[in-house]
Amino acid sequence: MKGKSFKEQERQILEDIILHRRTELGDNFIDREIPNVVLERLLWSALQGPSVGFSQPWEFVIIRDQSIKEKIKACFEIENEKARKIFSDKPSYNRLNLEAINITPINIAVFYKPSSTPILGQTSMNKMGVYSVCLAVQNLWLMARAENLAISWVSLLDENKVKDILHAPAENELVAYLCIGYVKEFTELPQLEIANWEKRKRKEEVIYYNSYNHPQ
Ligand SMILES: Cc1cc2nc3c(=O)[nH]c(=O)nc-3n(C[C@H](O)[C@H](O)[C@H](O)COP(=O)(O)O)c2cc1C
Repeated sequence: MKGKSFKEQERQILEDIILHRRTELGDNFIDREIPNVVLERLLWSALQGPSVGFSQPWEFVIIRDQSIKEKIKACFEIENEKARKIFSDKPSYNRLNLEAINITPINIAVFYKPSSTPILGQTSMNKMGVYSVCLAVQNLWLMARAENLAISWVSLLDENKVKDILHAPAENELVAYLCIGYVKEFTELPQLEIANWEKRKRKEEVIYYNSYNHPQ
């Protein structure tokens, strides 16, 4: 067979990385710098992601500046208060720590940059561009785990305020705001499962064969 082929042991490594990739929460992060060479590997993995029409519609802002992180954190606090009211019937919301903005050495804001010309494959479903950016994020997240780095994805943000803070081009869309750092320990289960917020869905709940109304 031409091209790279993987051995069982290598497949297991990927399975392990997928299994152990986690979202870590604020108080688990430690004060330790991320070497530039490691950051470069994370960015490399993002840039290897698949994209509709090979459009690579992603842009990344690497944030190390503490004053910028503080502005983003202030933005989070406002949105978090709004969310707290929405989930007022769930007291456990107050125990969730949904960001690690100013306690992680690197934040990365990931943007979708729409194209001004038609993209192969994106002419019927415009969302394919944003989906492509999500795949770059997933690549980066898995590589981060392989580097024993943790990620906290913050989505309780006002997109326009974040764009203003980062001087982002008007047409860009914020897809992900990632806080990256080393942690005391990696959590076995998703934090929201530990907090009894959600459970992992069973395979039978989400996988259908041939069509939605076909007997299993
Ligand atoms: C699109 C997206 C947005 C998310 N936003 C947040 C967030 O605002 N705050 C947070 O703590 N985690 C956020 N997460 C992490 C999820 O809570 C987490 O992926 C989920 O609970 C499963 O846990 P795991 O990543 O450890 O498998 C987000 C994840 C995704 C994919």
